[in-house]
Amino acid sequence: MTVSFVLNGKTVQVTAEEGANLLWTLRERLQLTGTKYGCGASHCGICTVHMDGKPIKACVTPLAAVEGKAITTIEGLSKDRSHPLQVAWIEEQVPQCGYCHSGQIMQAASLLDKNPSPNRKEIIEHMNGVLCRCGTYLRILKAIEKTIQNA
Ligand code: FES
Ligand code: FES
Repeated sequence: MTVSFVLNGKTVQVTAEEGANLLWTLRERLQLTGTKYGCGASHCGICTVHMDGKPIKACVTPLAAVEGKAITTIEGLSKDRSHPLQVAWIEEQVPQCGYCHSGQIMQAASLLDKNPSPNRKEIIEHMNGVLCRCGTYLRILKAIEKTIQNA
């Protein structure tokens, strides 16, 4: 099958086997390895990307489902790590091993896109479900709140 979609602002056409999914197409066919594989079963949120501005889990998204859609990955959030969330993430030294953080940032970005000043409860609710085995949750919260304050 051939699927056409907008990826980080550019139209792409990908030919792949039936049943291909978005995560492995991004990582292996398109060399966008910022999106990580965690559980592969919609449990951890580490593979989060945006589809038409909403967070989705790439590991359980069939490639066919993105036909005509706009997909944004961590590589498309900014060209040079200058997105306000990325700036705050660096300032607050949020990551530990770092593995979960493209998913964390994409999840946070989807919140601030629709609500630029969420309260702490709204942030926690929205971020719930993107897991961090290193337990960096407090620094994630601090970086999101810093992003809001800096806006
Ligand atoms: S890898 Fe997709 S939700 Fe865990
Ligand atoms: S920083 Fe290691 S899993 Fe989140």
